[in-house]
Amino acid sequence: MENHLQRIVNPLLAWYETHRRELPWRRDKDPYHVWVSEIMLQQTRVEAVKKYYVRFIEILPDVQSLSEVPEDRLLKLWEGLGYYSRARNLKRAAERIVRDCGGVFPDTFASLLKLPGVGEYTAGAVASICFDEKVTAVDGNVLRVVARVTGSRENVLLPEVKKQMAAQLLNVLPDNAGTFNEAIMELGETVCLPGGAAKCGECPLSGVCTAHRDGLTSELPVRIKHMKRRQEQRTVFLLMAEDGRIAVEKRPDKGLLAGMYQLPNAEGFLTETEMRAMAEVWGIDVLEIIFIKEAKHAFTHLDWLMKGYQVRVSHSAGEFLWVTPKQLQEQYALPTALKPFAPFPTTAKTAFR
Ligand code: ADE
Repeated sequence: MENHLQRIVNPLLAWYETHRRELPWRRDKDPYHVWVSEIMLQQTRVEAVKKYYVRFIEILPDVQSLSEVPEDRLLKLWEGLGYYSRARNLKRAAERIVRDCGGVFPDTFASLLKLPGVGEYTAGAVASICFDEKVTAVDGNVLRVVARVTGSRENVLLPEVKKQMAAQLLNVLPDNAGTFNEAIMELGETVCLPGGAAKCGECPLSGVCTAHRDGLTSELPVRIKHMKRRQEQRTVFLLMAEDGRIAVEKRPDKGLLAGMYQLPNAEGFLTETEMRAMAEVWGIDVLEIIFIKEAKHAFTHLDWLMKGYQVRVSHSAGEFLWVTPKQLQEQYALPTALKPFAPFPTTAKTAFR
């Protein structure tokens, strides 16, 4: 059977030649640069990634420096990007490259795939862009383009559908696989936008696109999530001593937000009496409790619904680190989830929505 995707190759490559964005990680094909950018780009938009990327590479210019960076410093550099296991995996991968490969970056899809935090997408992107290997790199943008061009109504969130679309793409992949992979991602990011935002008038593929022909663009791709996120209520304590310092604590080394610093918090929406009881357990004398606001944060598998309170306490007791707001802002990686309660201005979203 003819592979409909064959028709996209030439127009896509021609379009990319003139529409390719100048991005900080496109200045060379250094696999360290491409790897760091691809990891950052996985859950974050290009515009937001740019300044994180530039600062990251300035401070950690190579695998060696990343392998040696203290975790707190690394998390601080990552602060605001979210999905912090990405940062920890970068460091673990760097340690492994230094220890097992003499600091030389793995240069094949198969060897890249063995690194912590590197899945088929990242291995495909690095292997094709940096080492010209003929492999695909299929992310959500690519799935959207493929689903629309082929008019597929399959649920692209199913692994078997993704596999099948990757196989179709592999079948038409040109020798300059890296350029093709970047081109199709770029089209998905800048032209073939989700929902009704698609700019079909500017698209080099509109003449061969099934969704465009059949008026299905805003319906495709089909994305059906079967997983319902657990909702967890939490009460957040901005414990503030009379000298203005606030209590933070380090989260456990494993699990959600591992190793980050947080404001003390407890499960459930506590009543004032329960909050005072909690403070007593922590060995803290409460002077006054003032409601700050409520906020919501969505993690991958879990939503936090939070109510935050400023709790003025008589002195900095308990097993907490007591830091000034300035120290908290500059030296500790506070998860984005807790930023709405931070004692300094942030752009964090508030309210339950
Ligand atoms: N999004 C993620 N990685 C990308 C890349 N290499 N080119 C274009 N868009 C991307």
